[in-house]
Amino acid sequence: MKIERLSTGIPKIDEMLQGGIPKRFLVAVVGEPGCGKTIFCIHFAYEGLVNNETAIFVTTEESRESIIRQAEQFKMDLIPYIENRKMFIIDALLRPKEDEYTILSLNIEELVQKIIMIKKRIGFKHTRLIIDSLSAFWLDKPAMARKYSYYIKKVFYQWGFTVIATSQYAISTSEAFGFGIEHIADGIIRFRRRVRNGVLRRYIIIEKMRQTQHDKHMYEIDIVNGKGLVVLSKTVYRKEDIVLPDNVIKRIKEAKERAETE
Ligand SMILES: Nc1ncnc2c1ncn2[C@@H]1O[C@H](COP(=O)(O)OP(=O)(O)OP(=O)(O)O)[C@@H](O)[C@H]1O
Ligand SMILES: [Mg+2]
Repeated sequence: MKIERLSTGIPKIDEMLQGGIPKRFLVAVVGEPGCGKTIFCIHFAYEGLVNNETAIFVTTEESRESIIRQAEQFKMDLIPYIENRKMFIIDALLRPKEDEYTILSLNIEELVQKIIMIKKRIGFKHTRLIIDSLSAFWLDKPAMARKYSYYIKKVFYQWGFTVIATSQYAISTSEAFGFGIEHIADGIIRFRRRVRNGVLRRYIIIEKMRQTQHDKHMYEIDIVNGKGLVVLSKTVYRKEDIVLPDNVIKRIKEAKERAETE
């Protein structure tokens, strides 16, 4: 049976994935701040739009305008799609409550209801759902990570979405939060960053993609004005690339202790 795959909008990443992300998968996009998760999400949403699909983009840490401006810097104009109701940006926090496309708290039930309401309006067309970030929904209750992830996967699979959910400090989610999204996700795309020779460098590695003989190398990436995310060459994995900073390890330990006492 041939697997239908969705292009991510970044040709090299599609190639790494044997053509793209299988339809109806839930894929976790994980990594530290500033390493390219949101930009990847924007590419993924836009690629759907230009292919006559629809997109729902949930943003918890940036405003709707910020996402639109960021996309525009990479020559992706979201405004016509928003006006034509092909794209809906749910701005989770920074909105007055009259805004139809907001949620009033980081409550997973409320989020699901809002998304389903929008999906009913969209109707039959395939919808790419981006939740950036999903981990924001369990920040104050890390022990719920797994339960929420499972719930999200189940509900949205039934509705036919292909889901990209971002998560911060993902090594930590399994370590600190009982296991979270990563075991439940059908795929894991991990972003990393590191300063080498005084320069910030970013990397991407596909850690998991069910039903896919994916590329297992780590690649350096760059974010380029006017273009967005570009994949550079393969790199070797060094110890420094996978070790977390001390302060992060400390936070993980603290979260783990908290989770255990809950
Ligand atoms: N127009 C641009 N040209 C070049 N680089 C840019 C441009 N806009 C953003 N960037 C780079 O992209 C980075 C932000 O990437 P992104 O928002 O995808 O990070 P993230 O992984 O989502 O982080 P967080 O977890 O904090 O949300 C910026 O720090 C900057 O280095
Ligand atoms: Mg982001």
